Amino acid sequence: MRDPYYYEDCEVLKNKLGIKDEDTLKKAEVDFSCDRLHVLSLFPLLGNYDFEHYCKMHEYVFGDIYEWAGIPRMVSMEKAEAVLGYTSIEYAKPEQIREQATAVLERMNSRDWASMALNEQAKRLAQDTADLWKVHCFREGNTRITITFMCQFADSHGMTMDRELLERNAVYTRNALVAASAVFQDGDFRQPGYLVRIIRDGLENGQN
Ligand SMILES: Nc1ncnc2c1ncn2[C@@H]1O[C@H](COP(=O)(O)OP(=O)(O)OP(=O)(O)O)[C@@H](O)[C@H]1O
Ligand SMILES: [Mg+2]
Repeated sequence: MRDPYYYEDCEVLKNKLGIKDEDTLKKAEVDFSCDRLHVLSLFPLLGNYDFEHYCKMHEYVFGDIYEWAGIPRMVSMEKAEAVLGYTSIEYAKPEQIREQATAVLERMNSRDWASMALNEQAKRLAQDTADLWKVHCFREGNTRITITFMCQFADSHGMTMDRELLERNAVYTRNALVAASAVFQDGDFRQPGYLVRIIRDGLENGQN
């Protein structure tokens, strides 16, 4: 089936800027979203860290680019990951998105973060972040929103996160999310250690 998020005459996501060249759109998207992510790092987006809050963050960051910003995707999706030999993580089906994301967020909100030592905080934050990312709620922008949401969540729960460490290592972080989410119908190949490590370093830097 043709992806309804693409223009009819080219495989580029329909966008408010009318850009029909993929590289140009990617550059514009990074420019717009970086500005908004920077504002969010200074002024947190208020909310309860529930599914609505997560969607609101996506809408804030991508609302100038996509009509569907903040709205969960309505199509199934695959993305070739180089670190998986160009296969895709098995993202949630559209009809499972709200339920799966809500379950992860409820678990995340119910943890007693203040009672955990740093290593435990990093392990649990990595687990929740990877499980939320694996849902891939939106047609685009999931990595930036999930990481930003996790950083704001950490900050608001007394675990200051060094966001710049994650930004500077955006490729590592994305690959670490892939490694931590590599569970498929035919087997569990997850390796959460990479993600735990960078989140642990981010928390440790945040303490200094
Ligand atoms: N935390 C971040 N802060 C700033 N820029 C980021 C961050 N994470 C990723 N980027 C940049 O955003 C661009 C798009 O990244 P990528 O396509 O991997 O993720 P995404 O679009 O957020 O998620 P997905 O494609 O999985 O839905 C890349 O240029 C990447 O370097
Ligand atoms: Mg992307």
